[in-house]
Amino acid sequence: MEQIVINGANRLKGSVEIEGAKNAALPILAATILTSEGKVNLDNIPPLSDVIIMGKVLEALNIKVEFDKFSKTMSIDATADLNSVAPQELVEKMRASIVVLGPLVARLGYARVAMPGGCAIGSRPIDLHLKGLKQLGIEINQQAGFIEATAKDLHGAEIYLDFPSVGATQNIMMAATLAEGNTVIENVAREPEIVDLANILNKMGAQVSGAGTDTIKIKGVKALHGCEHSVVQDRIEAGTYMVAAAVSKGDVLIEDAMYEHNRPLISKLIEMGVKIEVTDAGIHVVGPEVLQPTDVQTMPHPGFPTDMQAQMTVAQLMSNGTSAMNETVFENRFMHLEELKKMNAKFRIEGNSAILEGPTKFSGAQVSATDLRAAAALVIAGVIADGETRVSRLEYMDRGYYQLVSKFKKLGVDIKRVSIDESGRETLITDITDNSKLA
Ligand code: UD1
Repeated sequence: MEQIVINGANRLKGSVEIEGAKNAALPILAATILTSEGKVNLDNIPPLSDVIIMGKVLEALNIKVEFDKFSKTMSIDATADLNSVAPQELVEKMRASIVVLGPLVARLGYARVAMPGGCAIGSRPIDLHLKGLKQLGIEINQQAGFIEATAKDLHGAEIYLDFPSVGATQNIMMAATLAEGNTVIENVAREPEIVDLANILNKMGAQVSGAGTDTIKIKGVKALHGCEHSVVQDRIEAGTYMVAAAVSKGDVLIEDAMYEHNRPLISKLIEMGVKIEVTDAGIHVVGPEVLQPTDVQTMPHPGFPTDMQAQMTVAQLMSNGTSAMNETVFENRFMHLEELKKMNAKFRIEGNSAILEGPTKFSGAQVSATDLRAAAALVIAGVIADGETRVSRLEYMDRGYYQLVSKFKKLGVDIKRVSIDESGRETLITDITDNSKLA
């Protein structure tokens, strides 16, 4: 078993570098399925376990993937004859691999993708993905455990999404690039990662416009080709370090962080009394002596991101009074609060809201991550807690945070990652990647 061990109470100081966004890299890797000519050369690819799984999905489809984890570059050649089956053992490891369905059926006319199961934070249906693909003329046959998609007549369509789902927007957008005629998708997701996907699709020769607004228009083309692209910065990783600086009375420069992408978080932090300065070098965050309480509601972009919800609850629990967190995107995303309770957090859950009582004097405890962002929230609480905190289930953290231990250490935190054997003996993990489970 591996654990992160933190000795609180730390005050973060220094600067931190941010990786390319996992949530941009994953659909971009799926988009390479569409390229029947030339290589795709990618830069700023974060070496995370989710990215490695997506690379394996591509390899299973007969795509050549060369990943240099040190330079964070990836070269992808999808010009061979592709396999049409995305295997279950990979898809079930990562729900996001469902975004291969649209590009695969668009390129080959047929695809068979294992059905992603539910996940910890909610049931996560894919009805919107399938509804949109059907409107493009794709026949969908759902069998036990997998989805079969057949496109005899892939054509443009006018599609309205009932909810601006990120994954559905990506799947439909990718399939529509090779459809005959024009597609208009309304009420689409507007996340920066959608814009990044549209940008690379256009470099591949697609004709996509409107990404970043609520309507995307696509003019179908016959084929897509290779290109070069650098993945957009991870606003959630940047936001995680902003919150850590804010709650620890820290003074941290988040290098090259993009203000536009983090506006919903920044406006809330300012409301809480955090000093935020946008400079040419990035976003400079100075945490106050006392944080003010504030109510937050998660929403699709440009609302407050659900992926910052768990980390933000730590800031709310630290603040001087009562705050509410209303989670409107996923139905079951408060599991980290039960773990924070072991560290002294006081709260109650009312439907999809958590009422958080501050100020909390966090105390160190043994806690377990319940999902990716919960892992980050527990580490942040450990950074400011009195005494020793041990966080386990690090496989969640490795899905989305590269070199988290080294980055916090560089900011002055007393933190290490250890492996514990059955007899309880601890070995320090000093691997440069921190992520010892990375393939
Ligand atoms: C993506 C992100 C995830 C983030 C989420 C919301 C990736 C790899 N993951 O996930 O980190 O938390 O956006 O910002 O980019 N829904 C349906 N039917 C569908 C699709 C979605 O009901 O067909 C519901 C989901 O159950 C959920 C909500 O819509 O309640 C949002 O899901 P969606 O935007 O699709 O999130 P993901 O693309 O899965």
